[in-house]
Amino acid sequence: MDRLNEQVVEALRAAGKIILESQIDKANIIQKSAANYVTQVDFQVQNFLVDQLRRLLPDSNIITEESENNQFNLETATWILDPVDGTTNLMRGYRHSAISLAFFNGQAPVSGFVYNPFNDELFTARIGNGAYLNDKPIKVSKNKDLKDCLIGFGTNPYHREQASKTFRITENIFMHSLEIRRSGSAALDLAYVACGRLDGFYEYSLQPWDFAAGMIVLAEAGGQATTWQGNPLGVLKPSSVLATNGLIHQSMLNFVKE
Ligand code: IPD
Ligand code: CA
Ligand code: CA
Repeated sequence: MDRLNEQVVEALRAAGKIILESQIDKANIIQKSAANYVTQVDFQVQNFLVDQLRRLLPDSNIITEESENNQFNLETATWILDPVDGTTNLMRGYRHSAISLAFFNGQAPVSGFVYNPFNDELFTARIGNGAYLNDKPIKVSKNKDLKDCLIGFGTNPYHREQASKTFRITENIFMHSLEIRRSGSAALDLAYVACGRLDGFYEYSLQPWDFAAGMIVLAEAGGQATTWQGNPLGVLKPSSVLATNGLIHQSMLNFVKE
């Protein structure tokens, strides 16, 4: 691991402590839109990490969820950060949330980090160097028949007007798979596909900070991530996401494309 990666991991672990020590009560929850909340913890983690990342690379661009001044371009070294992915879980003491951080050097993806402080699981990957869970190499599953597959999905909870599409597809996938899961953290869902806990994951619309880091971890673990149309994922705008072990990608595409 190079020095920059080590410093990022140190910063993420320290940020994880902020999450673990947080007390969430009604007073520090802010409603952004219907069923979409942010807590003071999201801001604390974001402020801490933005500060750390600026120290590490002063001229880098930082795209981060709770900011109103994001520069959506990859013209320079760029971090894409979700300080808390799984805020609803955090608010409810569900203990399944993560910090999601991706690093791009211009257009080129370089590294991805997904850290769940509740069980101290850190998923990392550097392009060309494989993917790891707490420093142990990880690989996607080898399941190729959907009937053997455990599939995660996201409900696209902030756009409920689109919910019927997701749930129609989900009923269909449920009937053809081993089982389905809805975890509440897309970043962890992608990391779980990367380490073989899930065989696939889909969500109708995600933001770049939800999927950029997990997409890099998944690619390095041998998996595949595309839009629901089968196109490459771009990290500068919202996108549908289908992530799989690669072996079931085509059959999952057939379901999500309807
Ligand atoms: C959300 C989570 C959730 C997914 C939503 C995301 P947030 O992120 O990843 O699992 O279904 O689409 O927006 O709001 O907790 O950072
Ligand atoms: Ca998120
Ligand atoms: Ca978030």
